Parts: sequence; structure tokens; C-alpha cells
Amino acid sequence: MEKRVYIETYGCQMNEHDSERILRLLEGSRYSETKEAKEADLILINTCSVREKPEHKVYSALGRFKRFKDEKGTIIGVAGCVAQQEGDRLLDRVPYLDMVVGTHAIPLIPQLVQKVEASKQRICQTGLDPEGKYLQATFPQRVMNKVKSYVTIMQGCDRFCSFCIVPYVRGRELSRPSREIIKEVKHLTEMGVKEVCLLGQNVNAYGKGMEGELDFPQLLDRINDIEGLQRIRFTTSHPGDLSEELIQAFSKLKKLCERFHLPFQSGSNKILRAMHRGYTKESYLEKIDRLKEICPPIAITTDVMVGFPGEEEKDFEETLDLLQKVRFDDLFSFKYSPRKGTRAFQFQDKVEEKVKQERLSILQEIQKGITLQKNQELESCVEEVLVEGLSKQSNQDVTGRTRSNKIVNFQGNLNLVGKLVPVQITKAYPHSLRGEMVPTHCRLQNTNSGAKSSEILI
Ligand code: SAH
Ligand code: SF4
Ligand code: F3S
Repeated sequence: MEKRVYIETYGCQMNEHDSERILRLLEGSRYSETKEAKEADLILINTCSVREKPEHKVYSALGRFKRFKDEKGTIIGVAGCVAQQEGDRLLDRVPYLDMVVGTHAIPLIPQLVQKVEASKQRICQTGLDPEGKYLQATFPQRVMNKVKSYVTIMQGCDRFCSFCIVPYVRGRELSRPSREIIKEVKHLTEMGVKEVCLLGQNVNAYGKGMEGELDFPQLLDRINDIEGLQRIRFTTSHPGDLSEELIQAFSKLKKLCERFHLPFQSGSNKILRAMHRGYTKESYLEKIDRLKEICPPIAITTDVMVGFPGEEEKDFEETLDLLQKVRFDDLFSFKYSPRKGTRAFQFQDKVEEKVKQERLSILQEIQKGITLQKNQELESCVEEVLVEGLSKQSNQDVTGRTRSNKIVNFQGNLNLVGKLVPVQITKAYPHSLRGEMVPTHCRLQNTNSGAKSSEILI
């Protein structure tokens, strides 16, 4: 008899992709997905420990699911970064938890579930796999989202920024062989995928330490040649590893979309040093200028943190100054959250919670204005939109994304899904754009995306 699995996911795109992989593996083992936890025979929570807030979510989710264990014996498991970090302690703390599955143990999940089903044994599997076999298992058996798909190109991180838990919970940096990645992208394309997003914590370091392997710009070049694929994105990048070759790729590679997520974390050189980031405000700005020079329409997004230990008012002002200088299209901002086991956990000079909150509000208010202005700059431009599906608000509308990854809603029907269409932007909102499809055979003029996207036809 077929069983049902419910997966709840927190954290980054890598975790979202891991949840898709878990689902595919379980589908090969008599499970199908349910979106309702109450219908599930197996509940998995795929967790994130990058800050305190997402980490706490796992405990409240477990609290919510306890009654399903009590009522019908649902198997409950925790996967991902909190599982990796806490291991057995999670089993001790939550007596009704059946499984703890670390970040490298994903391919073992079907086996582990069978073991729990058969023996009612409680299991903890958190060994890290330095050979990266866990990555080799990503080859897709079925495409979950026909229009776009993620492809993991590397695991872990060797940067050890002083605030960050990722190197501890995801292990050492290791790249997947390029031939496997290319094979996977070809396979996805044959199944109808139009856009791939290459995933890794620091994709710029792809291929490092692997003799004879391609580097990241070369990998992009090879993927750009894959027939049928329309768009390439990647995330995420460390400014220290951003090479001139990668910047050049934005003018050279037709399918590489004009959007770059480049976290800066702080505008203060003193704080950047304490974070062990390995670049300065000035060198970051130089790279941004170069990107804008090589590819003027590029949309730049970033991550920033406030309240790192020792951050004074003047350091925060440097951060605001950087915000104004770059004028990011979007920004993800966080209050520093101490993570046990990282170097910054020991740092003195803690910033008060109230000050962190004030700084975060100021920063977000400024960015809100910039994001809206950036969106308004697109009004009346014609943008290439990849249609992803019906809009949630109205079934007369479809929704899709520009090459710069902005959401556009416009009138249309399901026949457009998976197609690239020219859409004239009629109105900008803080988080999306409204547009109208440009009638047949209209070449893109007045486009914000530059010459690369000028041949799309409906
Ligand atoms: N690999 C990416 C970041 C991954 S974590 C990079 O190098 O930029 C995503 C974001 O979470 C980070 O960019 C950072 O802004 C934030 N973050 C990480 N650790 C944090 C912490 N301890 N407190 C607050 N924010 C944190
Ligand atoms: Fe964390 Fe730094 Fe690695 Fe990004 S580069 S994952 S912030 S250690
Ligand atoms: Fe979170 Fe792990 Fe991603 S800590 S940000 S889910 S790598």
C-alpha cells in the first residue's frame, strides 16, 4: 500500500532542493507526497541553523506534530542543518522523535525509514561524507517543476566566516564533477526545464583543488551551450572569490541572466575584518562597479547583517553608505545571531538587542525605497518573462520572472507556461511588477535586459 510523506522545509535554496531530492528518493520507496501533515505516515522537517530563529522553528514544528504521533503513530524525522548540529541531543530532547538525518545522509533516507518502520528503532545518522557521494545521488528521476530546476554543483564551505555555522553543518567544500553536472542539466532540459539555478554556498570557488576540472566561468560556458536551455542562474557567491572571468561571463554568455546575489554583510572594514570576510568595502565596491560596467542592466542583490559584536554607530553608517552607493535591487537583512561553535560566539562587545532592532528597521526602511525605485525604473520597458504558472491572485493572470528575477503578473492563460514572452511593464510594486504581453512578433526594444534577449518571439 502506498504511504504518504509530508515535508516541511526551512532555510536556504539548498535545503529546498534537498527536500525535493528526499521526495524523489521516497517516491522510489512506496511514498507519495501530501501537503497535509495530518494525512502523513511520515513527517520530515528539513531544518536550518544559520540563525536562532530558524533553529527554534524546528521545536515549534515538532510540538505541532506530536499529536499525530500520539493519535496514529506517524513516523517523525528531523533532517538538515539542525539535525547535523544537534544529532543525538535531539533524540534525547524530543522523546517522540524517530529519526535524525544529517546533511550528508540524504541518500540513506529510504533505508532509514524502512528500518524505523520495521524495528521501531530510533535512529541518528549524522556522519559527514568527505568524498561527496551524497552529491552524486542528485541525478533527477523526475522533474518536480517543469519550468525551472535547481542543480547542486558543490557541497560545504571552507571560508569559515567568524559568524557562520554553515562550514560546521555542511562540511568541507567539494565540487561535483562537471561532466555529472552537465549531464544532469541536459537531462533536465530534455524533460522540458527552461531555467536552471546552480547551487552552492560559494559557487565562485567551484573546481578549486580538483586537478583538471573546469572552473566556475568555464562550467557556465559549457552549460550555456546546452541546446534547449534558456536561462542560467546561480547562487550564492562570496565577493572574495569573484573573478574578472566571472564578471565577463555576464556579457559573454547569452543564457546567463542579469542578476547577481553578492552578500556584503557589513560596510565597515573593521567589522569585515572581525567577520573574517577577506575583502574591504572599497574592493567590494570596485567589483560592483566592474559588474555594472560590463553588464549595465545587471540587478544586484545582497545579504547584510546588523549588530555584529563591536559594531558601533559609525560602522553602521558605513553599511548605510554602501547601500546608497550600490543601490541594490533587493536585500536580505538580519540581526546578528550568535552561533555556538563559531569563532564570533566568543567575541565580547555584544550589541544590545534594542540597538540591533533599531538598526535593522532603519536599514530596511531605506532599502524599501530603493527597491521600489529600482522596480519603477522598469515601467514602460519591455522585459523577457519566463512564465511559471497561473497567478495566485487571479486565474485570468499568469506569473513569471524577468531575467533579473523580478516577479511579473499579467493577463494570460496556461498555454503560456514555460514560454518566454515579451511583457511591457505597466506598474511597479514593492515586491512585483504588473505588465501586458506585447503582441506577436514584437522584438524587444526599450528593454532593460540589454541586447542579449532581443530575439524572443511568442
Ligand atoms: N554563503 C553565503 C551565505 C549563506 S548564509 C555567503 O557567503 O554570503 C545566508 C546569510 O545568512 C548570510 O549571508 C548572512 O547574511 C546570514 N547569516 C549567516 N550567519 C548568520 C548569523 N550568525 N547571524 C545573522 N545572520 C547570519
Ligand atoms: Fe558562511 Fe562565509 Fe561560507 Fe557563506 S562563505 S557559507 S557566510 S562561511
Ligand atoms: Fe540554513 Fe543550512 Fe542553508 S544552516 S542557510 S539550511 S546550509
